[in-house]
Amino acid sequence: MKVFIAGASGLVGGNCRKHFTEQGWDVKGSYFSYPTPGTVFFDTLQPANPDNFDLVAWQPDVIVHCGALTHVDHCETHPEESYTQTVQSTINLLALAQQCKARFVYISTDYVFDGKTGPYTEEAAVNPISVYGRHKLEAETLSLSAAGTLVLRVTNVYGNEARGKNFVARIADQCRNQQKLTLKLPYDQFASPTNAWDIARAMFVLLRDNKSGIYHIGGTDYMNRVELALRVLKHFPGAEYELIPVSTEALQQPAARPLRGGFVRMKFSAQYPEFLFNNVDDYLAGS
Ligand SMILES: NC(=O)c1ccc[n+]([C@@H]2O[C@H](COP(=O)([O-])OP(=O)(O)OC[C@H]3O[C@@H](n4cnc5c(N)ncnc54)[C@H](OP(=O)(O)O)[C@@H]3O)[C@@H](O)[C@H]2O)c1
Repeated sequence: MKVFIAGASGLVGGNCRKHFTEQGWDVKGSYFSYPTPGTVFFDTLQPANPDNFDLVAWQPDVIVHCGALTHVDHCETHPEESYTQTVQSTINLLALAQQCKARFVYISTDYVFDGKTGPYTEEAAVNPISVYGRHKLEAETLSLSAAGTLVLRVTNVYGNEARGKNFVARIADQCRNQQKLTLKLPYDQFASPTNAWDIARAMFVLLRDNKSGIYHIGGTDYMNRVELALRVLKHFPGAEYELIPVSTEALQQPAARPLRGGFVRMKFSAQYPEFLFNNVDDYLAGS
C-alpha cells in the first residue's frame, strides 16, 4: 500500500508515518514549516508549488490529511486563516486524491459536538460551538462526499512527537528537566486522552480492511484536564508544581469548549474487540 501523509511532521501524522513504515507500507510523509527526518515538503495550500513533493507522479493509493490550524483560540480570532488552513487545504488535497484515484482519510475531532451530552458515539448529532469545530466539520463533510473516505475523529491527543508540544509530553518534559510547573487548568473540560500511536494503529487496521465512514477513536480513560495533569505528575514524584483548578468560564478563552467531549468507541470496538488501547500510565511507565 502506498500512503501519502500530509502533516507527518506533526503529532498524529508522525506516528502514522512511523507505524505504517514499520508495517511494511510504502509511506511518504510531508512537512510544511518544520522538517523532520525523512519527511518531504508539501504545501497543501499551494498544490502547484514546484517545490512540493510530486504527489501525482508518485500515485499514492491513500492520502491521509493530518494538517489543520489546531490552535482553537487562534482560529476563533482568525476565522479566515482557520478556513484556509483547515477547509481549503482539504479541498485541495481531495482534488489531488481524485486525480490519483486515491482513497482519502481525514482526521477530525470531538469539537464537532457541543459538549452537552458527551462522551459521544458516532450516531450523536453534531453541533460545533467554535470556529475550529465548524471548520473541522465542514472539512469532514467535504471529505465524506468522496467515495470510500475514512474519517477518524480523535480527541485530546498525546504521545511522542518531534516537537514534544502536546500537553502530556510538555508536562513530562518539564518534570524531567526539574522545572517548577505552574498549571492553571479547567476541571470541567472532559475528554478521552488518546495516544497518537493508538490512532496510527487503529488507522492501519481500518485501511488494511478497506473501511470507510466515521470512526471515533479515543483512549480508555475519561477525565478532565486537572486529572490528566495529575496522572502525568504521579510519574514524577519529585516534581515541584502548583496546580490551580479553575472553571472554563474563569479562563475566559476566546473559543467555547465542548465541556463534556470525548468518545465512546462503540463502532471501532465492535469491529475490533481485541484491539487494546493504551492510557497515559502505559505511556509514562518507566519515565
Ligand atoms: N492534537 C489533538 O489533541 C487533536 C484533537 C482532535 C483533533 N486533532 C486533529 O488531528 C489532526 C492532526 O493534529 P496534530 O495534533 O497532529 O497537529 P500538529 O502536531 O500541529 O500537526 C499539524 C501538521 O500539519 C502540517 N501543516 C500545517 N499547515 C500545512 C500546510 N499548509 N500544508 C501542509 N501541511 C501543513 C504541519 O506541518 P509543519 O509543522 O511542518 O508546519 C504539521 O505536520 C488535525 O487535523 C487536528 O485538527 C488533533
